[in-house]
Amino acid sequence: MIALYDIRYVRMGTPDLDHAVNFATRVLGLELAARDTQAAYLRSDDRDHTLVYLDAPVHDHTVGFEVKNPAELDKAAGELEAAGFPVHAGTPSECEQRRVRAFVSFREPSGATIDLIAQPWHSGRPCFPSRPAGITGFSHVGLYTTSPSRDQAFWTGMCGAKVSDWIGDAPLLRIDEVHHKIALFPSTRHGVQHINHQVTGVDDIMRSYYFLREQGVPIRFGPGRHPTSYATFLYFEGPDGMTYEYSTGVRLIPEDSDYRPRQFPFRPSSFCMWGSKPDIPEFKT
Ligand SMILES: [Fe+2]
Repeated sequence: MIALYDIRYVRMGTPDLDHAVNFATRVLGLELAARDTQAAYLRSDDRDHTLVYLDAPVHDHTVGFEVKNPAELDKAAGELEAAGFPVHAGTPSECEQRRVRAFVSFREPSGATIDLIAQPWHSGRPCFPSRPAGITGFSHVGLYTTSPSRDQAFWTGMCGAKVSDWIGDAPLLRIDEVHHKIALFPSTRHGVQHINHQVTGVDDIMRSYYFLREQGVPIRFGPGRHPTSYATFLYFEGPDGMTYEYSTGVRLIPEDSDYRPRQFPFRPSSFCMWGSKPDIPEFKT
């Protein structure tokens, strides 16, 4: 079983790197850590970077997960190959681009690229974002799934994730105490469905709500509160149609707890306990 230690980064292609960087810094509230002609590295916390925009095809999405050490990475690569998932071992220049000691990549069953990473770079500098959005760190992704039951079996069976709750067929999966770090939403597509950053509190959610509206950024859902994770949330649209989320107050499920996952029906009240209605295709009932 592969032990995922934490979610680490998202890498996404864009046809307009300048526009994406402008959004990420001036609207979303990340720090531009490094930039060249091919890529922009953005920080949200004390790690080297947690989001990369690349001069690459727009639906080219990669999610990086950290494993504990290089030995665990080798073990994971062997297990994936044995289970029929071809693995690419990162070359020295690819490791340099990702700012990691070592990584392997493969495609999860729906088709998104997953990097497993050992010893990613940390930063000695404090994160200094260009907008005070209150971000405390990159925290989770929604992934499209073309088969929720198959992909739930992959993430729980191969990668040790645990189901925290279901909304309809969509499992919310945890890899540590945080209620979910991965959520799988049925679709005909594959790749990243939304990108979550945690913020300090509800004041940040509401400040951003008014700020984003002033900036003309489409609000897609919220402000609201998830009855599953209890997190207060705000979803909005970023470059190339990507959905971004701020949230705060996510429930923690201790390792030794006797928590049992709950089945929520696929209806608006399962996504928001305050009555907000989503304008996000995968959340619409
Ligand atoms: Fe989310």
